[in-house]
Amino acid sequence: MDPPWLLHYFLLSSLTTIIPILLWRLRRPAEAYPPGPPGLPILGNFFDMPTTAPWIQFAEWGKKYGPVIYLNLLGRPLVVLNSAKATVDLLERRGGKYADRPSFVMAGEIVGYKDMMIMSPHNRVYREQRKLISGTFGKDKIGHFHEYLEAQTTKLALSLLDDPKNAAEIVKQHTGTVLLKIIYGLDAGEEHAHHITTASQCAIDFLNLTLPGKFLVDSLPFLRHVPSWVPFSPKRQAIEWCKTASKFRTLPYYEAKQRVLEAKASESFLSRILARRGTSKLEKELDFPTMTSNLLLAGTDTTCIAIQYAIIALINHQDIQRQGQAEIDKVIGSGSLPTLKDRENLPYVTAFCKEVLRLNIPAPLGFIHVASSDDVYEGQHIPAGTMVMSNTWEILRDPQNFQDPWEFNPDRFIAKTDTGTDLVELGFGSGRRHCPGKHIALDLLFITVATFLAVFDICPSQPLEPSNFPSGFVIRPETFNCIMTPRSPDAATLLKSAKGLTSA
Ligand code: HEM
Repeated sequence: MDPPWLLHYFLLSSLTTIIPILLWRLRRPAEAYPPGPPGLPILGNFFDMPTTAPWIQFAEWGKKYGPVIYLNLLGRPLVVLNSAKATVDLLERRGGKYADRPSFVMAGEIVGYKDMMIMSPHNRVYREQRKLISGTFGKDKIGHFHEYLEAQTTKLALSLLDDPKNAAEIVKQHTGTVLLKIIYGLDAGEEHAHHITTASQCAIDFLNLTLPGKFLVDSLPFLRHVPSWVPFSPKRQAIEWCKTASKFRTLPYYEAKQRVLEAKASESFLSRILARRGTSKLEKELDFPTMTSNLLLAGTDTTCIAIQYAIIALINHQDIQRQGQAEIDKVIGSGSLPTLKDRENLPYVTAFCKEVLRLNIPAPLGFIHVASSDDVYEGQHIPAGTMVMSNTWEILRDPQNFQDPWEFNPDRFIAKTDTGTDLVELGFGSGRRHCPGKHIALDLLFITVATFLAVFDICPSQPLEPSNFPSGFVIRPETFNCIMTPRSPDAATLLKSAKGLTSA
């Protein structure tokens, strides 16, 4: 490709991209767009977009411009919802209109995540996948995993007994192990443990790659054709991300499928969908490797972060830890470990888990929805194709929803005097795209906290600051240290003799 050709190509492509953008900008709707920071001509707010902890800047803009703010990223409109009311009104009540996802040239086409369910438009294939996932992970379907979750949590506690200094890493392995087993039926022994590391890396890559305004190629799609030998071309940037994504999509799937075919695998999401394959024409078209890898990608890091923050909250709030232990002692006693059946009788432990999610939601902006047709909200125009994000981080700290919102206080969920107590689950998204793994994540968080309270005293080895490592779309804690000691001589014995340890 010689340079003049390349120059002409760029000029032509620029014109064909920029002219429609200009025309789009000149098209005036009857209603005004929602307010937002002014931005530059044509470029709009492209350079205003924060790349670190965007939820904080969005919240600041919300204070200045109101709960619904409008940004223009080189012609791509983005609306941020900073209030619970706007989120519920648009993403829940008008959910059918806001169920699509944006297309990202970098994340989708170049790196190859475009067929993942989380990136899919709200079409027939998407709905079929969603139905299959609900068949295994729906609230009334996950009971058959409970014994496994309990046994794995006991194993986790035993590992921490041996190596409490390594809690952050051990929890990460634990979450990955559980999800690898229930999604693929694979045991994360030495042979398969690397899938957990890859899943975690892909989750980080994915969320960074889908940050609106991060890549020029998402706003100027013609750049996708620049060959990889050109320095700074999107394809060149993406080489490593592509390799990891492709490995992650195929390796665990084919290993697990082989085991299912040899009848060596335990029951899992994969074994179930393989057994049903072909019951409908549409199911035959589904891309199972992508579907299963999407579940692992979306679930591993998020659930791990929630559990890590729960441990940090126990470390930082010793009085609250004592209150949780008192409830466990009263309801369960010291002769057995809590189970998921005990949740209804453990309101304080349940409230603790909710407060962890309120103040430390792993995905503070959820994921992006897209308006599939023009809409008008409170007199403001939201054009078709607008990307819409709910700033859950701000909503769960809004003093109108929660009294003393920065205070860690599980009692607020027992007294129920705050108006926002039902809002915590917005952390799992909204409307038709809400998280399908929510129930398994909540179960795993609950059983982990209840088991820790039953058997450990958890103390700080140094003071900890939570929420201190925002990256892309997620907040994750830095590695932390703590001291975990058995609450009584019997606690360790109880762990070692727990039911199900050998079979899991
Ligand atoms: C504490 C743990 C978790 C949190 C905070 C979380 C949060 C979220 C959020 C905010 C979304 C976007 C929802 C929206 O667009 O409105 C989402 C989507 C999703 N999550 Fe989760 N999640 C968690 C655990 C899991 C688990 C364990 C799985 C799988 C077993 C999972 C699978 C998915 C999938 C497949 C999607 C895409 C749904 C779609 O596009 O329709 N998540 N999650």
